[in-house]
Amino acid sequence: MGPSGHISSVLLVAFLLGLHHSSGFWILNVVFPPNAKPEIQTNSTPPLIIVPGNLGNRLEAKIDKPTLVHWMCYKKTDNWFPLWIDLNMFMPIGVDCWIDNIRLVYNRTTRRSSNSPGVQVRVPGFGQTYPIEFLDSNKLAGYFHTMMQHLVQVGYIQNETVRGAPYDWRLAPNENADYFTKLQELVEDMFNQHGKRVYLLAHSMGCHYVLYFLNHQPSTWKDKYIRGFISLGAPWGGAVKTLRVLASGENDGIPMISNIKIREEQRMTTTNPWMLPSQEFWPKDHVFISTPTFNYTNQDYKRLFTDINYEDGWYMWEDTKNLTSDLLAPGVEVWCMYGVGIPTPITYIYNEDFPNEDPVDFVYADGDDTVDSFSMGLCKRWAGQQEKPVHVTEYRGLAHLDIVFDEKVLNQIQNILEGKADVPKSIDVRSGDN
Ligand SMILES: *[C@@H]1O[C@H](CO)[C@@H](O)[C@H](O)[C@H]1NC(C)=O
Ligand SMILES: *[C@@H]1O[C@H](CO)[C@@H](O)[C@H](O)[C@H]1NC(C)=O
Ligand SMILES: *[C@@H]1O[C@H](CO)[C@@H](O)[C@H](O)[C@H]1NC(C)=O
Ligand SMILES: *[C@@H]1O[C@H](CO)[C@@H](O)[C@H](O)[C@H]1NC(C)=O
Repeated sequence: MGPSGHISSVLLVAFLLGLHHSSGFWILNVVFPPNAKPEIQTNSTPPLIIVPGNLGNRLEAKIDKPTLVHWMCYKKTDNWFPLWIDLNMFMPIGVDCWIDNIRLVYNRTTRRSSNSPGVQVRVPGFGQTYPIEFLDSNKLAGYFHTMMQHLVQVGYIQNETVRGAPYDWRLAPNENADYFTKLQELVEDMFNQHGKRVYLLAHSMGCHYVLYFLNHQPSTWKDKYIRGFISLGAPWGGAVKTLRVLASGENDGIPMISNIKIREEQRMTTTNPWMLPSQEFWPKDHVFISTPTFNYTNQDYKRLFTDINYEDGWYMWEDTKNLTSDLLAPGVEVWCMYGVGIPTPITYIYNEDFPNEDPVDFVYADGDDTVDSFSMGLCKRWAGQQEKPVHVTEYRGLAHLDIVFDEKVLNQIQNILEGKADVPKSIDVRSGDN
């Protein structure tokens, strides 16, 4: 497997969370970032911990495999190598090697996942910012890098006052207990070191991780250590897109991997079933998947998993469905920010080739192109459920992944961190003014 070249590396960023239409933005801002010019220097920045979304930090592997899916795959490595993002996944055979390394094996008896036989996986750089700034070592697939540059300009110091909390995003919180211990220690360390309460900032599925964490901390601990929670693009009521991902796969516009191929990888994580539209908030009769033979609502998940020949998914969903689905208020001040104003599928319509072909039609609702605004807006309910303030800002015209880059969002995050009170309810990212 040789390196697959820079063009495909640039394209792979689009694979991350579904932003094919904004790749021009990526090339300009990620590959050729604007020069960072220092503005205000301040040593009063409150400590900040960033929790990335699904697929949003590096993973590394070391292998000594009993069997191979193809003779060209590596069998054994002496050192840790990048598993995510691994450029080999863009090669015709490499993708099979990669899937066989990154997949999880789910055991229905123990209800636990383990790595593929002979594969060890680790999350590099806990507490540092590099594993969430760029997802590859060539610094091509940027994620939190633009935000980090903005934070550095206003006085933050990477690895000190702003730190990353990456995790094994293949696993839901029920199988990631150690992570929450480490996150708690990181919060306490930063509080003790800087003498100020800590802000938690998360994107997409990372917001559910933070909610789960806060839901399991006593309020005395939260009052002592946490200043607030900034949530960006959280699918609070689940993401309808997950159904398509699990049913027929979704390559998000990458030409080198077919939807059906990437489905193999997408079906191996327990985090995808965790993010299915919740039964608590969606109407029981809303059809998420329509086929010529059946209309599936959120009451039909068991049948759906059987019909798409992915019964493990049903068990994974049962294991994870109540982790955060009741949306218990976090009990800290919240800034809930998300994109609206972009048509987002809430029903996928398939023909008789379901689930082995893409949907043939869609029913749209308002959203950020990945998650609908009904789901993301569910944070509004916390306003009546906790004493600490809940601020909701909708960004008109802002896509799901762009929320971590957009200048108006970054300015608003800066305002929050600097303690400025004004929180607009709505901001149009398509207009020049703010
Ligand atoms: C699942 O775990 C049980 C208990 O450890 C074990 O006996 C069984 O062989 C495992 N199943 C598979 C398919 O590995
Ligand atoms: C953060 O820490 C990592 C690991 O020690 C290091 O490679 C990186 O250069 C540090 N970043 C900054 C900006 O100091
Ligand atoms: C699914 O719902 C649509 C729209 O209500 C309806 O026209 C169709 O007949 C239903 N299909 C099945 C198989 O029930
Ligand atoms: C979720 O379900 C599991 C198993 O049924 C149970 O042990 C656990 O207490 C539940 N958690 C919540 C938050 O309800």
